[in-house]
Amino acid sequence: MRLIYVAGKGGVGKSVTSSATGIWTSNLGMDTLTFSMDPAHSLSDIFDIELGSQPKNIRDHLFAYEPDLTEEAKGFFRRYKNILTALFGLFEVEVKPEDFGNMPGVSELIFMDKLNDIFVEKKYDYVVIDSAPTAMVLPLLQLPSITTGFVTRVLGMRNKWIGVLNLLESGFGDSILKEIRTMRVKAETMRNALIDPKIATITAVTIPEKAAVEETRRLIETVESHGVHVSSIVINHVMKECDCQFCQRKMRSQRSYIQALQALYSDKRIAILPDYGAEVKGDALQQVAQDLYGTGQIGI
Ligand SMILES: Nc1ncnc2c1ncn2[C@@H]1O[C@H](COP(=O)(O)OP(=O)(O)O)[C@@H](O)[C@H]1O
Ligand SMILES: [Mg+2]
Repeated sequence: MRLIYVAGKGGVGKSVTSSATGIWTSNLGMDTLTFSMDPAHSLSDIFDIELGSQPKNIRDHLFAYEPDLTEEAKGFFRRYKNILTALFGLFEVEVKPEDFGNMPGVSELIFMDKLNDIFVEKKYDYVVIDSAPTAMVLPLLQLPSITTGFVTRVLGMRNKWIGVLNLLESGFGDSILKEIRTMRVKAETMRNALIDPKIATITAVTIPEKAAVEETRRLIETVESHGVHVSSIVINHVMKECDCQFCQRKMRSQRSYIQALQALYSDKRIAILPDYGAEVKGDALQQVAQDLYGTGQIGI
């Protein structure tokens, strides 16, 4: 199973790129899941198909999935009630299941858990991850050390604390430890998958404008410092030829950012994707897939 993680700033075309990638790999006969990790889902709009709380088969070899964060947060809270109560108890915070999904870092934890389920199930040849605008890959990489820190703390208190919990309710302290270990194994599995170039690759999507290019540089620098390789860059919304003054000026500006990216990342494959002049959805994705992969600009 291969993971293709699509990252970038909000609105640059991550979901369009992820969907078109899913179309491309499924056209090749590879069983593919396009998995949205952005709480503000848009795959159903782009594929023009209602998506539910389970991966849905939307065409030959292609599945799409937008987990409902609120529902998943409730289920996650129920599943890990012991550990979460203990964790928040340490900080003297009381949390209700319905508020849990809105807490910082929780969506990453939940999506990591879902991704792990999919990863260990090994049902698909490709999983394309349509990520949230914040570089969610970072929390995913840091989760193992966060959970490890927590385990160490709990283990450090084991004698006085776990013992007391076991007395209060038989096995309660031990069950907390077991749950933390499970969570840590999942986080480690996903971190190891993401840093393994044989399994995962990151595609950074950007547009030829100053702020987006700067953010792309930061994103690439940060994830690569964690050992995750960014193999491809998609420069989206590139203007087609036009003689009018306005377009000429904009094209000159775009060209300078494209050249800067090409110079900076000569080791990566860079795809130029035109602005299609209208929202991209449904059948139009075939063209995007062709423009990205059919021309050989980037590969899978
Ligand atoms: N090359 C393009 N040409 C025209 N519209 C595009 C192009 N790429 C993306 N769009 C449109 O821009 C909007 C944002 O794209 P989307 O893929 O949802 O961005 P992100 O997932 O990064 O937030 C959508 O309405 C999409 O249809
Ligand atoms: Mg999106």
